[in-house]
Amino acid sequence: VVKVTSICCIGAGYVGGPTMAMIALKCPHIKVTVVDISQPRIDAWNSDELPIYEPGLDEIVKQCRGKNLFFTTDVEGAIAESEMIFVSVNTPTKKTGLGKGKAADLTYWESAARTIAAVSKTNKIIVEKSTVPVRTAEAIEKVLQRNCNTSGVRFDILSNPEFLAEGTAMDDLTAPDRVLIGGKIEGQEGTDAVASLVEVYANWVPQERIITANLWSAELSKLAANAFLAQRISSINSMSALCEATGADVSQVAYALGKDSRIGPKFLNASVGFGGSCFQKDILNLAYICECHGLTEVADYWYSVVGMNDYQKNRFVKRVVSAMFNTIRNKKICMLGFAFKKDTGDTREAPAIDVGNGLIEDGARLAIYDPKVSDAQIAMDMGAGMSNITTYKSHIEALRDAHAVCVMTEWDEFKSYDWGEIYGVMQKPAFVFDGRLILDHDKLREIGFIVYALGKPIEPFLRSAEGN
Ligand code: NAI
Repeated sequence: VVKVTSICCIGAGYVGGPTMAMIALKCPHIKVTVVDISQPRIDAWNSDELPIYEPGLDEIVKQCRGKNLFFTTDVEGAIAESEMIFVSVNTPTKKTGLGKGKAADLTYWESAARTIAAVSKTNKIIVEKSTVPVRTAEAIEKVLQRNCNTSGVRFDILSNPEFLAEGTAMDDLTAPDRVLIGGKIEGQEGTDAVASLVEVYANWVPQERIITANLWSAELSKLAANAFLAQRISSINSMSALCEATGADVSQVAYALGKDSRIGPKFLNASVGFGGSCFQKDILNLAYICECHGLTEVADYWYSVVGMNDYQKNRFVKRVVSAMFNTIRNKKICMLGFAFKKDTGDTREAPAIDVGNGLIEDGARLAIYDPKVSDAQIAMDMGAGMSNITTYKSHIEALRDAHAVCVMTEWDEFKSYDWGEIYGVMQKPAFVFDGRLILDHDKLREIGFIVYALGKPIEPFLRSAEGN
């Protein structure tokens, strides 16, 4: 069993950066080098302004950087000198060709594998950190073996999917529910490679939380975990629509459900919809794999989870428009929050994008405030829509003269705002559309707001405006 002393990670993103910072922190005897083809990203990792925001990350990077944690664009050099190589490149949904809009695009993965094969002169343990379709390891192994020019070099491939959640990544990495390592556990060499990676994690993760499995189970478990998590959100969101129709309250329903120990309380918050780079991508990928195996019913079951999410975003837009007398043309509407969830600056697949586009389509002028998302990022995400958008550095300026405010992200600071002051600067009637159920709705109504809270009983003013 190789006792690893040098690790390279290809891909310095939301996963590669934090996971490697944690390994460097917990394993001072291991040299960890994170590489990326993006020079600006690497420069940012080497600066005071890290390319991603994650609570607790700055401190750890500062502590380890230059000691046993390095960031560089010298991909080949770092691969050559490492015993273990994590691949944490992006695996987005394919945009064109066979399986477009569903299948995972493995271009970056294959390119990384070809580079590994070309520069490896010694045995390497390759760790799939990216989320990949089940049986990707098989394809990668072929690419590695057929492209390596140095004879006798062994590649052992492991699957070690990452379960961290953005916003709580450092806590998740410090005390993971489990670490999953898949390998060819039927052969001695495969078992040894698994043992090498187990040993790395055992520096801080209790043994009983380190699970080993065969390669395909490990790969599939990651897709399945994300599908199950997203399915809970879509399930409670489906209930939120029924609650509004019947006068039930989705928070009360979720609380009652969650007390059943078989169901549990987590991941039962109704909202305007899930976002993030993973849920939709991974479910589509899972469903596509099912389709490829002829499992149409299974595929359709999972597609419906994404369908419900789209429905929820549309439903929210419709509520805003109908509540505001069926016209939002030229009305200033403030979006509080743009990130896909709190404590991250990540906007990939954020519901704010679809909701924003929906509101703009109906003629609204958007004012966007998010504590962590840059103007440039919003511009990139909204594209042509930007001609109808102004971004703000202060929430009160974003809210001044607005007819309505839509809460798109559950940032804590929104709860502590002076909502009386906000009411004062807004147009009347002043509407609040709480897409995250974080505000005190009774208090807002006392102040004078007309409040739509997703999944909660609809107040008479709105019911009459909407004619139902
Ligand atoms: P990301 O897009 O933030 O980072 C990927 C990085 O890989 C980019 O900086 C890109 O420049 C680099 N890259 C691409 N091809 C390369 C190559 N050939 N050589 C060197 N660098 C290359 O992506 P993120 O969010 O870190 O995700 C990575 C993987 O982890 C994906 O498969 C994702 O599904 C998975 N994942 C993501 C989670 C998340 O919360 N973001 C959680 C768990 C898994």
